[in-house]
Amino acid sequence: ESQGYQTTYKRCNDIIPTLPRDTGWWLSNLCQYQGFWLSSSHAILGLMLVQDHFMSKPTDIILATSPKCGTTWLRALIFATINRTSYDFATHPLLTNNPQALVPFLEGHIRVNDSTSFLESLPSPRFLSTHIPYSLFPDSMKTSGPKFVYVCRNPKDVLVSKWKFAEKMRPKEMPPLSLQDAFELFCNGVSHYGPFWDHVLSYWKASLETPETVLFLIYEDMKREPLVQVKRLAEFLGKPFSPEEEREGVVQEIVRLCSFKNLSTLEVNKSIISTEYFVQNPYFFRKGEVGDWENHLTPEMVARLDQITKEKLEGILCDK
Ligand code: A3P
Repeated sequence: ESQGYQTTYKRCNDIIPTLPRDTGWWLSNLCQYQGFWLSSSHAILGLMLVQDHFMSKPTDIILATSPKCGTTWLRALIFATINRTSYDFATHPLLTNNPQALVPFLEGHIRVNDSTSFLESLPSPRFLSTHIPYSLFPDSMKTSGPKFVYVCRNPKDVLVSKWKFAEKMRPKEMPPLSLQDAFELFCNGVSHYGPFWDHVLSYWKASLETPETVLFLIYEDMKREPLVQVKRLAEFLGKPFSPEEEREGVVQEIVRLCSFKNLSTLEVNKSIISTEYFVQNPYFFRKGEVGDWENHLTPEMVARLDQITKEKLEGILCDK
């Protein structure tokens, strides 16, 4: 096992200096590997380890997102949905843990733990999250039946969210990243796990080809009709809400528990209580709204982003 890991580490170290490189949004540079821009310090190694060593199970549930598309929200919603008979809403783990502490990040854990044994020790069904584009997972994973839940979001809001997030992630010594620079990077595909549009497309195509294993959700739909979308999610995961549960308001409880208003005001999510994580809990919460781009982007920025979205994702994402 560790021998195999060493081979992957070595391959990664050998490859990184040969890759196209660009400035990052915060400390680490981004490198283009297998068509996507990944952090040179973490993500490439994580991806390679997943490709070389991760053994998926048919019962796995994998939440896949581009960063800033609603990972935190969906981690919470899926966790609450699949574990709904195990916990009371008054003492729920989501009240005292950030969703990142409850849902292992696949390519992060595989790297930090230096062995897949942690992931293998998790009880089934395992619920993991990832930013890896669908096309970069090994074929064996696509046929062995894990269920992927993908959530995407309007790229204009993703850009603003990511730019604001960069403010928090950049160390004080670094000058602020201007919105214009962030915009150029994003449009050129140079964002974590970008190009954003190619990431969306990889899961969109998979959701059409194998709808029973890939569910494609949209942040804006979730905000507009959370109950409908959570019921859809539960059905996809093979855990539909029973008529009794619906009568008792279980779906409403889950939506309320996981709402931005509720999660963002919990003590655990307001303060930096652990430095264990790369991203501190409060940084996952900002506004949680649809359309904040209107407060930031210039008409020229909007036109260019809409144009790219139209070219790459016509009919998949609305441009509002
Ligand atoms: P904004 O910066 O637009 O507010 P991710 O979790 O993928 O990193 O995405 C972060 C974005 O999701 C941020 O968007 C954050 O505020 C928003 N978010 C976090 N928790 C949420 C929730 N429970 N409901 C809706 N949006 C949420």
